[in-house]
Amino acid sequence: MTAVTRSQALTIEAVQAGLRTRAVGRPLHLLEEADSTNSVALALAAAGAADGTVVVAERQTAGRGRLGRVWFSPPGDNLYGSLILRRKVPREQLAAWLSWVPLASALALVHAVRDMTGLEPTVKWPNDVLIGTRKVAGVLCETASLGAEAPVVVGVGLNVNTPLERFPEDLQETATSLAAEARRSFDRAAILAELLNQLEAHLDRLAGSEASGLADEYRARCATLGRRVRVSLADGAVVTGLAESIGPDGALLVAPEGPLPSPGERRFMEVRAGDVVHLR
Ligand code: BTN
Repeated sequence: MTAVTRSQALTIEAVQAGLRTRAVGRPLHLLEEADSTNSVALALAAAGAADGTVVVAERQTAGRGRLGRVWFSPPGDNLYGSLILRRKVPREQLAAWLSWVPLASALALVHAVRDMTGLEPTVKWPNDVLIGTRKVAGVLCETASLGAEAPVVVGVGLNVNTPLERFPEDLQETATSLAAEARRSFDRAAILAELLNQLEAHLDRLAGSEASGLADEYRARCATLGRRVRVSLADGAVVTGLAESIGPDGALLVAPEGPLPSPGERRFMEVRAGDVVHLR
């Protein structure tokens, strides 16, 4: 049992009190309910909302996860938010930038959680945030169109004060919350403000001269590297092997198990999208 009390309602004033950003969270829309904050943010972006606009909801009725999954979004205890990015990225850098945005956002989550709780999260490639072996947060990036100036929405879900016993049956063994790990409840407004601060800092790093430092830090925080993994690919194929590295475009480089490739064949599979399971 974890001794947690119910969370205080979020207020814009309480979040803004902790904001140190130039653009992220300015403006900040706080909704009692949304189907999905990503859907609301995509609609706002289509209507011209500015870079940095953030939509947060107290609950989601159709929260989306990666790979078509549902994101558990009960009222009041957690954080569900989406950030609109409108960055002018040179066309030749666009593909790499798009694939690093979710990874940089996961790193921002790691920093915010560490600084606000003292817990030591890691990342499971590409952007699951873990405490130990359990998932505490995830990132879902979506865009309505492709192109150098198309807006990108970064959706973040962070389990803050949900006690373990309140997670649904199918998440009982794999999910966790900050409160369950630290055995105390947290002020969601302060955590959200720090998350927005860290998102701005890490997305700025990605666009500037520190991009390679960010990639190195991601690799250092990535619990997937050096592990035996099973990867389910979008086409239904399943690969088991050693997760050896992260490529310059954010792909997971996996050395598949089995006979060594013949000379001239590639030793790694470059995984750009897929579901990764850490094996023993
Ligand atoms: C994942 O599967 O790990 C990604 C989860 C992303 C969930 C967040 S909650 C806020 C935003 N709105 C959504 O519908 N999804 C994202």
